[in-house]
Amino acid sequence: MQIVKAKSYEELSKKAAMIVANQVMLKPTLSICFATGATPLGMYQELQQLREEHDIDFRKCVGFHLDEYWGIAPTHPQSYHTYLLQNVYTPLGFMLRNCHFLNSNAHNPKAEAARYEAIISKKGIDLAILGIGTNGHIAFNEPGTPKESKTRLVQLSKQTRKDNARFFGAMSKVPTHALTVGISTILRAKKIILLASGKTKAKAIQEMIEGPITPKCPASFLQLHPDVLVVVDQDAARNLTQPPLPERIGHYTIFTKYHFPKQKTILVISPHPDDSCIAVGGTIAMFATANTIHGAIMVTGHKAQIPNTTKEQRIKIRMQESNKEAAILGFTPHHLQLKYYDAPEKKESEQADKKKVARLLQQLKPDIIFLPQPQDTHPTHQYARAITLKALKQTGLQPELWNYEGPWSMFSHEQFNAVVFFPKEYFKKKLKAVAAHASQNTRTPYLLAASSLTTLRGALIPEQKLFGFGKQPVHLDPYIELYAIEQPTQKE
Ligand code: F6R
Repeated sequence: MQIVKAKSYEELSKKAAMIVANQVMLKPTLSICFATGATPLGMYQELQQLREEHDIDFRKCVGFHLDEYWGIAPTHPQSYHTYLLQNVYTPLGFMLRNCHFLNSNAHNPKAEAARYEAIISKKGIDLAILGIGTNGHIAFNEPGTPKESKTRLVQLSKQTRKDNARFFGAMSKVPTHALTVGISTILRAKKIILLASGKTKAKAIQEMIEGPITPKCPASFLQLHPDVLVVVDQDAARNLTQPPLPERIGHYTIFTKYHFPKQKTILVISPHPDDSCIAVGGTIAMFATANTIHGAIMVTGHKAQIPNTTKEQRIKIRMQESNKEAAILGFTPHHLQLKYYDAPEKKESEQADKKKVARLLQQLKPDIIFLPQPQDTHPTHQYARAITLKALKQTGLQPELWNYEGPWSMFSHEQFNAVVFFPKEYFKKKLKAVAAHASQNTRTPYLLAASSLTTLRGALIPEQKLFGFGKQPVHLDPYIELYAIEQPTQKE
């Protein structure tokens, strides 16, 4: 998300209007979805001014609105139909045949919502102009709305009806329901600009930008969109604590809770069932909030001692533990049970294993693969890495490779080029995931090892590697996992 701060509401309106006007000048057929409410009014007025001064032509633009109160006539003075005609479509010179309205008097709200969603899907939205509710809603997607939501009839929250009583004179006059586009409808827009003004929006703005991605704050889903511009005045921005964190320091790429890959498919290669959480559990937990993550558990791990158990029982135990880990961290496990583990000397093992891994790669088409780093000397880890690279070659896929370290194979100083900093909540999940492998933790202190490595890296890396001694380190979260990222072309 890009944040544009304005000193006042007037400046916010001017800045936002310039951005919208620019988009229309670049593409005269721009398809725009308009927010209503108090916040964008100043911007709509500025747009009128800009239109007159610069002869901006909106006649070929397409207009949508985000939402409409349910059950009031389109001609009602407080309908969004009336609002858009008065504040946007007429003054800016839109052709009404290019404007699409949600009909709040339709017979069947489901059919009306489906009709509207279908038009949006067909025409597409180039630019969505949004406001934000004090409760974090966007359009009328109230707290609790899932990311997948589409256009539909919704019940307005008490907070929203209270907030909007100013337009109707009394809360009892505010409709109880509305038709609204969904979160998924909004996320499909090519570009999003969100305006917020005043201290009543400060909490929602802070949660949207700095909080976790959660239906509790529907606006937080905008963190998943690659092109969002947030224009805020000083009052709305006053709760933002986000320091200007760097995305690069020297040749190191820095990932933080504010900046990490989003909307990607990530495959984590875990040689044994517990390698994934021990090595990269914090990263998985944080990335799972905005990506689809899969784990390939390469071997069963039945050779690890679990007293008084048969081989079959050990396979079952380790599989269950690994499924527990997946649920904690938020990924889909795939148990590949590679043949090499039981028959390393057999030539057929490798052929069969390669086929299996290639099939998974073809099925998932990952954008990113996490795998043990090349210097990892454990034979099973080396095999897991090698077979993945061979299978990858066969498929022709070119994902980014994120080589990871572990307590058994730590990077030396020059070997890593990316640092993932994550906050305590994901560190806790990592430890919980490691603890889920109960059968292993009695044998070797993996919990201690995983926790020590993460905190040790957190304590030393920023000072030692990133900033140099004696420099003032930027405040970053104190838990770290390190990577050597290889771009597709550099692959072995
Ligand atoms: C309006 C809309 C709402 C408003 C939000 C803020 O079409 O979808 O999400 O943008 O409620 O409203 P104001 O700007 O009046 O505070």
